[in-house]
Amino acid sequence: MIELNYKNADALVIGEENGLNIEEEFNNYQEKITHIIADLNKRKDKPGQWLRWMNLGYSEETIWYVKEFASMVEGRFENILVLGIGGSALGGIAVTEALLKPYWNLLTPEQRNNHPRIFFLDNIDPDIISSLLSILDLKKTLVNVITKSGSTAETMSQYMIVKDMLEKELGDDYRKNIVVTTDKNIGILKQLADQEGYKTFIVPDDVGGRFSVFSAVGLLPFALVGIDIDEITNGIKDMDLALKNTDIHENIAAQNALIHYLMDTKKGKNLSVMMPYSSRLRYVSDWYAQLWAESLGKEYDKDGNKVNIGPTPLKALGATDQHSQIQLYNEGPNDKIINFIRVKEFDTTLEIPKIFEYTGIGYLGGKTINDLLNAEADSTRVALSDYQRPTITITLPNINGYHVAQLLYMLEVQTAIAGELYNIDTFNQPGVEQAKNYTYALMGRSGYEDSAKQLQTKMASV
Ligand code: PA5
Repeated sequence: MIELNYKNADALVIGEENGLNIEEEFNNYQEKITHIIADLNKRKDKPGQWLRWMNLGYSEETIWYVKEFASMVEGRFENILVLGIGGSALGGIAVTEALLKPYWNLLTPEQRNNHPRIFFLDNIDPDIISSLLSILDLKKTLVNVITKSGSTAETMSQYMIVKDMLEKELGDDYRKNIVVTTDKNIGILKQLADQEGYKTFIVPDDVGGRFSVFSAVGLLPFALVGIDIDEITNGIKDMDLALKNTDIHENIAAQNALIHYLMDTKKGKNLSVMMPYSSRLRYVSDWYAQLWAESLGKEYDKDGNKVNIGPTPLKALGATDQHSQIQLYNEGPNDKIINFIRVKEFDTTLEIPKIFEYTGIGYLGGKTINDLLNAEADSTRVALSDYQRPTITITLPNINGYHVAQLLYMLEVQTAIAGELYNIDTFNQPGVEQAKNYTYALMGRSGYEDSAKQLQTKMASV
């Protein structure tokens, strides 16, 4: 199992002004935490609660269909091209980067065990889209269009471009190169998929985008590139079982949620840094940033009070960002809590040759890069605590599907518990709607004429 160490967030280590009396706080909040965990588990199957992501590790049917489709198309495609944005892409990117061999798309087919390369288009930069589409042989590309709402402008415009190109190249056969992941009822994509006869996977009801990585949104691309999805679901299930424990001393998601909440509300540390010491885990930070920001940044609490709350996530990478951000973290405002992610055993042990023995770099010879990375994580953590900066360390025994799934699922549950502590709706995102509506208005979508007029007035005045 992955582990969480909160010692360096404790007042005993970093002092009363910046640290928490963690044992005391755990005891103070035990009853509330018990209630929150029991309540989340009680509500998780109820429609409208947006908690069905807690069941995704157990979705035998989806897992079966995903595997069946992956084996049906095995060997047919050189590339998987995922079109999606936000929660429809970030989990896929984080997990494939973590679990596939590094530089996957540069490996030969044999080195990839004949599994396809994978590309994510999660933005609408015209240069990037055109370049990628000119590189890929579309005949040998399976396009997975992923959008829960089935109408997101970024994803749908990409889909329109790709569909048009595919049809021109393949004629009627283009349909075999498209697979869709979307909601079963809402949105235009489901209607189009039905009309066009695309293979379709469903994003289950009450699973929001940023909590959807373990639905077909993530599992399908994972299976298509040969990632063992049973290993992933085993990781989720074991973590889910552990996180059902209402004793805060035994529940790492509750511990980290409470520590972050108290650091924000009592100690003024409302920035949450995610800093893996592993390049393969670097996109976990992007995924976490969306999860934490969109879930916890809210204008109103559940009682309708205007609160404008929410901790701000920050992304960093060890050891790289020791040479870019740590100066600020050590000596700048003491307004952050820093989550280190450590890996005990890397797949590779890389020795530094014993050369230049009698020079200033001679001490490195005979050690391993692994030792160096872990020594840097330790020294940075200790230096931060010398400056009285709180840190949390999450340790993965190694990087595999089982532990990466545990990490992501733990962070999802942590976010849900934090939302309850803040007393906000973790699963909505009203703050994204205004700009979306303005975009529709600017692009001439029917039904948005009033917004277009308002927007023109506002744009003229700035
Ligand atoms: O978490 C969310 O709900 C959002 O970030 C969505 O994932 C994002 O807006 C993309 O939406 P959709 O999947 O509907 O295209």
